[in-house]
Amino acid sequence: MTAIETSRLLLRPWQPDDLAELTRLLTDPEVTRYIVLSEPFTPKDVAEVAARTLEQWEHNGFGPWVAIEKATGRWVGRIGLNEIRDWPGPEKVEVGWELHQEFWGRGLATEGGRASMRYGFEVVRLARIMSATMATNAASRRVMDKCGLRFQGELHLPETVVAWYAIDRVHWLASQASHLDRVGAQEGRQVAAVGLPVPSVEAGRIGLGVGATGLVGGDEMVK
Ligand SMILES: CC(C)(COP(=O)(O)OP(=O)(O)OC[C@H]1O[C@@H](n2cnc3c(N)ncnc32)[C@H](O)[C@@H]1OP(=O)(O)O)[C@@H](O)C(=O)NCCC(=O)NCCS
Repeated sequence: MTAIETSRLLLRPWQPDDLAELTRLLTDPEVTRYIVLSEPFTPKDVAEVAARTLEQWEHNGFGPWVAIEKATGRWVGRIGLNEIRDWPGPEKVEVGWELHQEFWGRGLATEGGRASMRYGFEVVRLARIMSATMATNAASRRVMDKCGLRFQGELHLPETVVAWYAIDRVHWLASQASHLDRVGAQEGRQVAAVGLPVPSVEAGRIGLGVGATGLVGGDEMVK
């Protein structure tokens, strides 16, 4: 299992003692407002989320990370790639984020989300990454926008409306190259996109997937 760093976050693999923080996160009604459709998470549900997280790392080689604030060592939340097996479309890997309330509004979900996408495209070499949330979850949709994901449409479920976003690797690489061009222009020099790969061309819950390598070259800091 791999850990990566951004400007402010350490995204590290799961450990058994993360269960207490995960329980605090998923039993906060403000955090689960747009995740839980009916019954709140029970301790058994939380344990299943943790087990599914570890299973993804073991079988897929990726999964959600624990986000730690580097400056303080505090447990921020859960950010990363997540396979949604029952998603009704071909793209099953989403990028997702759930943070303790005390960390909201500082650009951390965007910072971690961008790093997760870089990992997904550059290391896992996914062809496409998606993200889905309740259509009313404006903050999460804004994070999707800021991560470069593009609105794809709405899914009308019996219980709620889900908005979903996606981007494929070709477009993501193009956006990274144009970012490098902009940086180069700002610095008055040409930046060649050297080294970039050649593009060839759970029940009742939304987005939780239930039922330091020095990799992150870009500065994922936002705000
Ligand atoms: C969604 C969540 C991860 C965002 O985390 P965050 O670190 O605060 O996100 P960021 O600071 O990177 O960006 C949030 C953006 O949404 C905007 N935003 C926040 N609340 C908003 C609202 N009610 N309406 C519109 N925009 C809103 C912020 O202004 C910011 O955009 P800006 O940078 O253009 O100002 C966090 O609120 C959270 O953990 N929520 C509960 C769990 C959840 O719903 N996860 C998603 C499930 S799919």
